[in-house]
Amino acid sequence: MAIATTAEPTRRDMLFIATGAAAAVAVSSVAWPLISQMNPDASTIAAGAPIDVDLKAIPEGGIVTVKWRGKPIFVRHRTKKEIDEAAKAPLAGMPDPQADSARVQKPEWLVVIGVCTHLGCIPLGTAGSRGEYDGWFCPCHGSVYDTSGRIRKGPAPKNLEVPAYAFATDTKLTIG
Ligand code: FES
Repeated sequence: MAIATTAEPTRRDMLFIATGAAAAVAVSSVAWPLISQMNPDASTIAAGAPIDVDLKAIPEGGIVTVKWRGKPIFVRHRTKKEIDEAAKAPLAGMPDPQADSARVQKPEWLVVIGVCTHLGCIPLGTAGSRGEYDGWFCPCHGSVYDTSGRIRKGPAPKNLEVPAYAFATDTKLTIG
């Protein structure tokens, strides 16, 4: 009898705990969109609104990563050497042949979506980790991109994608 009395409240407690846990999960999943909507920048970005990049802040040879539509965008201020390498590279043998001139609006500025076209990792572009074509290297499975963001080696099938962008002024880039 004593055992039955003890067992009964335990089962009820379990139900309360389970119900409480479910309620907590429900509150969490409702709270996240509300919190997200309170952040105008996040909601603006999520909606795909254009973003501006101050090009004065990127020295020659520098790369910045900005976030647009939840994705990293690499904005690279290419050196003359990087431009020349991209322009002279033979298209024959490239997995996704595309002239550098078709990928940039101004030779000194390369703008690409920083998502590896293999399985979606973010390639590395810091000095010393750019891979043998001096572009980007994706360590996930070894894809190597050049200074035009074109795939040159490894399993990625396509070049880094170029997003829609425009030069609002000589020093302001608008992505989107
Ligand atoms: S995700 Fe980049 S090589 Fe596989």
